[in-house]
Parts: sequence; C-alpha cells; structure tokens
Amino acid sequence: MGIIYVSVITEKKHLDVINSYFITKCLNSAVITNHKRASQNTYLEHNFNNIQIPKGFIQIYSCFPDDKKLKQKIKKFITQLNINTQISFNKIPEGNNSWVDFFPGIIIQDKLNILPPWLINDKNLKYAIQINPGANYGSGNHPTSRLCLEYLTGIDLKGKNVADIGSGSGILGICSLKLGAACALMLEYDKKTVKNCKSNVRLNNFHNKVKIRKFDVEKKPVRNINKYDIIICNIWPHVNEKFALLNRKKIKKSAQILFTGVYQKDHNVFKDFLEKNSFHIYDVKTMQNWNLYITVKKSCIGEKND
Ligand SMILES: C[S@@+](CC[C@H](N)C(=O)[O-])C[C@H]1O[C@@H](n2cnc3c(N)ncnc32)[C@H](O)[C@@H]1O
Repeated sequence: MGIIYVSVITEKKHLDVINSYFITKCLNSAVITNHKRASQNTYLEHNFNNIQIPKGFIQIYSCFPDDKKLKQKIKKFITQLNINTQISFNKIPEGNNSWVDFFPGIIIQDKLNILPPWLINDKNLKYAIQINPGANYGSGNHPTSRLCLEYLTGIDLKGKNVADIGSGSGILGICSLKLGAACALMLEYDKKTVKNCKSNVRLNNFHNKVKIRKFDVEKKPVRNINKYDIIICNIWPHVNEKFALLNRKKIKKSAQILFTGVYQKDHNVFKDFLEKNSFHIYDVKTMQNWNLYITVKKSCIGEKND
C-alpha cells in the first residue's frame, strides 16, 4: 500500500479545526507556513513547491496510507466546512521512501530521543526510543503528546506502573518504560493501531513489561485500574470523561491521572467536569492551545498514600 500526501492551504484561523480532523482520522499532521521549510523534504519540494500560498494563509501537510475512502472523507469534510481552502493530494510512487523525511524524530528535555526506526543506528540505540509512526496517531509531534512526554521526563517513574489510555503508537507507555517505569498497560480500540503499537513495543524490547489490549474505554471499566500509579489519557474530552466516570472509584488514591486532548478554549467545561467528579487539578500545562491536566482523586488530599 502506498502513501498519499495531502496539502491544505487555508486561512490560519482554520488550522485547529483541520488539524483536529486529521488527528481524529489517525493522521500525522504538520504545519508548514512557507516553502523554505517544505523544501527540506525532497518529496514535498518536487510535488508541492509550485503551489502559491497567499498572504495570511498557511499550508497544512499530512500523509496517510493509500485508501480511497479516507481520501473521499477528507475531501468531503474540507468541502463541507465551506471555507476558503485549496486541497490537493499526491500519491507517492511505489518504492519512493522520501515520505520518511516527515518524521525526523524529536528530543524531549535532553532525556528522550524519539526516532523512527530508519534513523536508529548502533551509536544512538542505547539512548533512543524507536517509534514507527506508520499512519497511526502518536509520532510524538502533536502538542498533547509532547505535553505528556515533557511531564513524564520531569517526574520519578522508577518502579511505577503506568496505564496508557488511547495508546496510539504506544509512545507514552514506551517512553515511560525507558524512563524507568516497571510496567505499562496500553489500551487502544483501533485494530490496526494495536498492531502498530505491538510492533513498536517489540522494537524497543519492552514486550516483557507491557500488556497491550484492544479495548474501548468508553464501554466498560478497566480491569485492575487500581494497580496503576500513573494513568495517562490522551484522548478526546468526551472519552476522557467517560473513562473518568467509569473508573474513578477504583483508581488508587495515590495515583496521578493525566488528562489531555482538551483545547484551551474548552478549559472551563473540562475543569468543571473534573472538579464535580472528585478529581483535584494540581497543575495545568498548555502548549499551542492544548491543555494537559495533572490530577489526583480528591479524597487523597491529606490522606496517606496506599
Ligand atoms: C490522541 S491519540 C493519542 C496517541 C498517543 N497516546 C499519543 O499521546 O501520541 C488517541 C488514541 O486513542 C484512541 N482511542 C480513541 N477513543 C478510544 C476509546 N474509546 N478506547 C480506546 N482507545 C481510543 C485512538 O484510536 C488514538 O489512537
């Protein structure tokens, strides 16, 4: 199966809605504002460089596996927005691997070097995490993933049990293990994404410390959720809320629960939800209009840890 690039040129104010749509469809998106940056990628240079971006407009790129239905859905979604956009698709010919330039890897706080497998070599293997983003969510580039990764690199994870809810590529659970966590539970409801997650876990040799389940967290409580010290939920707000309601009674008193995937503009609604449902917010971090909520169960304040 080949890869298709999609380019959307639109006014800057529409970035969030288009970016969110790409993310919900499990695409990796990247924002490129001028052709200077685009030309770092040979494929983009050859195929999109003659597109003119009017002043005040931006260009959003993404790529996904060649899938006619998905292509039509994207086209329909953009058309229905009824805004001033220019959309184009380009199929990457079989055997052309230049799309890998899209994933140059990332460094978090000088502690984590997250690289796609094709950039791993003997020298950096010891310090690096390998994440094959494929077409799944979780390359680490999105602000919500970065917020979690930056928080995780700043806390002591040694010996902790981590639950990664909506694991995507498995990036958050895998990085937690690299930072010293004892074990990770990864829950994901999409079959293909579970497969990609499993292969990333194997790439990093963590298969003995990980349980990966195809599981819809909106449907029922998570078995043994009371065993986890750090619970990371990077999913859409309504799924976060459902997970919180289904599991709050069993979550252990000393656990930290991280919620992200929430836009800054939805802060009041999400904050009210957490407070009404016995979660104490002790920090909120923001990156590019996305919020991360670091919470504990309210009853644990002033109480001894379990
Ligand atoms: C925003 S992505 C996060 C991926 C990764 N954890 C990261 O931080 O980069 C959310 C993931 O949750 C999954 N997801 C969405 N709803 C879910 C549900 N009800 N149960 C389990 N997984 C779900 C999606 O398929 C997607 O892979």
